[in-house]
Amino acid sequence: MAYKDIYTRSLADPESFWMEEAGKIDWVQKPSKALFDDKAPLYEWFSDGLVNTCWNAVDRHVEAGRGAQAAIIHDSPVTGTKHKISYAQLRSRVARLAGALRAKGVEKGDRVIIYMPMVPEALEAMLACARIGAVHSVVFGGFAAHELAVRIDDCAPKCIIAASCGIEPGRVVHYKPLLDGAIEQAAHKPDFCVIFQREEEVAKLIEGRDYDWHAFQYGVEPAECVPVEGNHPAYILYTSGTTGAPKGVVRPTAGHLVALNWTMKNIYNVNPGEVFWAASDVGWVVGHSYICYGPLIHGNTTIVFEGKPVGTPDAGTFWRVISEHKVKSFFTAPTALRAIKREDPEAKELAKYDISHLRALYLAGERADPDTIEWAQKVMGVPVYDHWWQTETGWTIAGNPAGCEALPVKIGSPTVAMPGYDVRILDESGHEVPPGTLGAIAVRLPLPPGTLPTLWNAEERYRKSYLNTFPGYYETGDAGMKDEDGYLWIMARTDDVINVAGHRLSTGAMEEVLASHPDVAECAVIGAADALKGQTPVGFLCLTKGVNRPHADITAECVKLVRDQIGPVAAFKLAVVVDRLPKTRSGKILRAIMVRIADGQEFKMPATIDDPAILDEIRVALRGIGLAKG
Ligand code: COA
Ligand code: AMP
Repeated sequence: MAYKDIYTRSLADPESFWMEEAGKIDWVQKPSKALFDDKAPLYEWFSDGLVNTCWNAVDRHVEAGRGAQAAIIHDSPVTGTKHKISYAQLRSRVARLAGALRAKGVEKGDRVIIYMPMVPEALEAMLACARIGAVHSVVFGGFAAHELAVRIDDCAPKCIIAASCGIEPGRVVHYKPLLDGAIEQAAHKPDFCVIFQREEEVAKLIEGRDYDWHAFQYGVEPAECVPVEGNHPAYILYTSGTTGAPKGVVRPTAGHLVALNWTMKNIYNVNPGEVFWAASDVGWVVGHSYICYGPLIHGNTTIVFEGKPVGTPDAGTFWRVISEHKVKSFFTAPTALRAIKREDPEAKELAKYDISHLRALYLAGERADPDTIEWAQKVMGVPVYDHWWQTETGWTIAGNPAGCEALPVKIGSPTVAMPGYDVRILDESGHEVPPGTLGAIAVRLPLPPGTLPTLWNAEERYRKSYLNTFPGYYETGDAGMKDEDGYLWIMARTDDVINVAGHRLSTGAMEEVLASHPDVAECAVIGAADALKGQTPVGFLCLTKGVNRPHADITAECVKLVRDQIGPVAAFKLAVVVDRLPKTRSGKILRAIMVRIADGQEFKMPATIDDPAILDEIRVALRGIGLAKG
């Protein structure tokens, strides 16, 4: 079917469009209608239906005769292991874990934090929560104890499920001490923890609080799927905002099922039974939607890959996995391909593998630069589809609907708006701008099913962050334009969020940490261009009067402080001491100008700048750390 017809229908008649898609999901009780708009501008979908995510992702495939098909392939170059779990095995493993959680008092609506690396048990924990209607919140393993503590206090989990360790190239990530530290720091204490002990490191359990993953499940009654309302939260996923407090994005159960199911064929072009691989992490939204839920809801085989694009053991790992498991559609972040290209520019490793099963490569998570797209197209010999979305939406806002109609690719554009997303480019006063003109990217409300209805325990923040700037619209936080053909071009964030190696980070959160250093009077963090990671954070520190310790000591302490407080994922390695920060006469820090200086780009001197001479000091400081060239 033509994309245009599908898209037009989704906006003209969302009720029939989404009710038809809802028919592809198993309901305990069908919803009476699709859209619930009585609390507009807050919207919900399928609210009065009754449904269970785990049933749709696992049990129904077993019932339909797919029990023997692999649901999950764990491919772990960092531990040198590979194994498969069939849908039938997955059902009994998840039902048992769910039963054990229930036996310890976890019920529908209770929160469960999951802090685990890329092991199938992470998906099993997510699905076990879904089975009993508990609301999970997965925390990425690269976050430090403090970040975990913030999330514990915000969602107040009854239980935390963690692994004893994760494995990064060259080091073991000790999850258990991080978990213990986080619980100590948090005001809220979970009733109990479940620890999945890995062979690489056996953690010490705290008696009475911690249970061993296996022992805890011994002899329990497996749990059946508990029906939940369509608007019941499936999960909370925290993402970076402009301040240090992360935003708890709520994912509604029914819309999530319906929307993800639609994307698997129409965007990723896979049929049930085929192998789909998203090389991301369960801690990110890509991991939620496309390592766990999407492929399983659709009856695909998903790959849980525990490794890196390079160094585990070489730049051929991705090609090996694609070849060995006959991957049909592959999804990764541009930064991963840049890492491979840097190490193996001629793709000599690729020549060792047969990747002829692969139909297409999908890129998201950050801007896909034309060089990377062209290189991937050339060496892989498949179409490369960029697509743009966010934690908040949970699925593609703009992409190429390759499974219904593959549209011509324009390199640098993620293509066109997906069903239900009425994307508009607005000027500062909220008026639509003509094609080809840069503006704020907004989506007319309501957003389609599966997108966030609110933030966890923070409705006012939800309104303020997304709804208030342009009444009647959802503000994406991205700036860009639409061309004459309706293709979208995503240019930059409009807020202080930066993107480092496909990871969304808040400069505001890093500034809060730097400001807590006793010698720092004032600071600013910007994202400078980085050839591998897209952006890299750079901190500017103004010292408290009278401090005359060596600057190198202070910057090293600040780098360590960010790593200890936020985590290694912040990739904060560059800090410089400066006398002053460039500001407007009203005192606003001119971060955008600092970015242009760091990137060696031309800029127009802002009329409001307080003292232009400061910019030369900034340039000199940046040159001292290898930036501001050109
Ligand atoms: N647990 C603990 N630490 C982690 C971690 C995890 N799950 N993931 C990353 N880290 C650590 C890394 O070890 C690194 O630590 P270091 O400072 O001691 O070296 C730090 O966090 C920064 O990680 P990253 O920015 O990812 O850099 P890297 O050098 O480890 O790897 C790439 C670079 C490009 C290979 C890697 O970033 C990559 O594969 N990115 C893909 C991005 C992605 O999947 N994004 C999800 C959205 S689609
Ligand atoms: P996250 O919520 O971590 O998925 O990050 C979402 C943000 O990443 C978006 O708001 C964009 O700024 C950026 N992003 C994601 N995908 C793309 C893309 N394909 N092109 C440009 N930017 C992207």
